[in-house]
Amino acid sequence: MPDLTQNTELFELAKEAMNKAYVPYSRFHVGAAILTAKGQFYSGCNVENAAYPEGTCAEAGAIASMVLGGDTLIKDIYVIGNGDGLVTPCGGCRQKIREFSSADTMIHICGAEGVRKSLTMDELLPFSFGPENLEQAG
Ligand code: THU
Repeated sequence: MPDLTQNTELFELAKEAMNKAYVPYSRFHVGAAILTAKGQFYSGCNVENAAYPEGTCAEAGAIASMVLGGDTLIKDIYVIGNGDGLVTPCGGCRQKIREFSSADTMIHICGAEGVRKSLTMDELLPFSFGPENLEQAG
């Protein structure tokens, strides 16, 4: 039987976070969990509010927690949501993840049963703009 969760600790963290999502408007629960290159774990959930566009995504919460923890390099990020579809990070979150990624960073899209798809950063956000682009400007 294949281990559909791959990294059980990360999967469980993402699931726990998803269950804490504050989503009275969309009712769409999302959780994210990060394992950093240093070996630390961080998680986040989506948090909505009455001014709909001001809500924040699960990935953004996990990244904020990671930075607060003194970490800036994502090795793996698990994202989990309800339903049968692929809960791929939104455009804004792709850019947020990109800031803290390397060629080794993997983005794992999960459902209740485990990992549904694993992607590199370049697959998720090809031809991306990142910190190196600013450095090249001189
Ligand atoms: N959402 C996330 O938290 N992450 C994603 O990658 C996709 C969307 C949230 C935002 C909003 O609270 C709800 O899902 C519906 O869009």
